[in-house]
Amino acid sequence: MQSQHSSNTSHSAASPVPTQVITTTKAVDPQRQIQYLKNELKKAQALAALGELTSTATHEFNNVLMTIINYARLGIRNRDDASRDKALSKILEASERAAKITSTILAQAKNRSESMEPTDLGAIINDSLVLLEREMRKYRIAIETELDPNAPKVVASGNQIQRVLLNLLINSRQSMSEGGTILIRLHLSSDGKYVELVVRDSGSGIPRETLPHIFDAFYTTKDGPDESGKGGTGLGLAACKEIIDSHHGRIRVESSVGRGTAFIIRLPVSKDSKTAS
Ligand SMILES: Nc1ncnc2c1ncn2[C@@H]1O[C@H](COP(=O)(O)OP(=O)(O)OP(=O)(O)O)[C@@H](O)[C@H]1O
Ligand SMILES: [Mg+2]
Repeated sequence: MQSQHSSNTSHSAASPVPTQVITTTKAVDPQRQIQYLKNELKKAQALAALGELTSTATHEFNNVLMTIINYARLGIRNRDDASRDKALSKILEASERAAKITSTILAQAKNRSESMEPTDLGAIINDSLVLLEREMRKYRIAIETELDPNAPKVVASGNQIQRVLLNLLINSRQSMSEGGTILIRLHLSSDGKYVELVVRDSGSGIPRETLPHIFDAFYTTKDGPDESGKGGTGLGLAACKEIIDSHHGRIRVESSVGRGTAFIIRLPVSKDSKTAS
């Protein structure tokens, strides 16, 4: 990495002489340094997101295992066909969920879809909900979805969009200390150019004067991580904005104190979303 700023003098390139170091260090462009640090920050954020995701998924996984164990016990205790059929189908259902949870984590860890490719946002929404289901239940939050099955794919990094969604959903959850509702909508915009993703909560809302700051890095109104270890660094929405900007999309917010908040994301439909790479 440090070698990036090695020489620009075409002839000396073949013989790396240590005496060059002083000149090259001096020549480091502050803009490049900033860019380098921004990239490092991005990597750190991605790792933190992965850590958070892993801990959420571990809890979820454990929960699913408990379901499997309990139904297996039920099947052993009750020898009639009906009970056994029920136990087995519950075990199958839970096992499928477990497989989904691990595959989501593995996909994140492998950075499988860090690359931009035609992506089904509906599938990403469902994967994210698998991970947060238990947490939402614990905080008495109902999740409603209105996902248009015909919404076209968008060219996107699935991992990054999932990070955006998880950030938004966790923010929403944290704004509803007494429980509430989150509505997730996915549909094609009326002009057919964008897929619109809306995350709307019935939480505390955001005061007018704070709204202009919420996308700023390190802006937070939280004292620190909550009991589930989430929130409080003020980087969540800054990362969301950066990700959506890099997808040539838009993210905006509508909020009303005491009534709730909606984040509206627009991502451009790829011209040939079926064949685009
Ligand atoms: N859905 C929401 N309802 C109410 N306030 C919100 C909502 N989403 C964001 N905010 C406000 O915007 C601030 C910034 O959010 P952001 O996600 O960037 O940081 P954070 O949640 O405080 O910390 P973290 O970086 O850990 O996510 C929050 O502290 C909160 O005041
Ligand atoms: Mg947040």
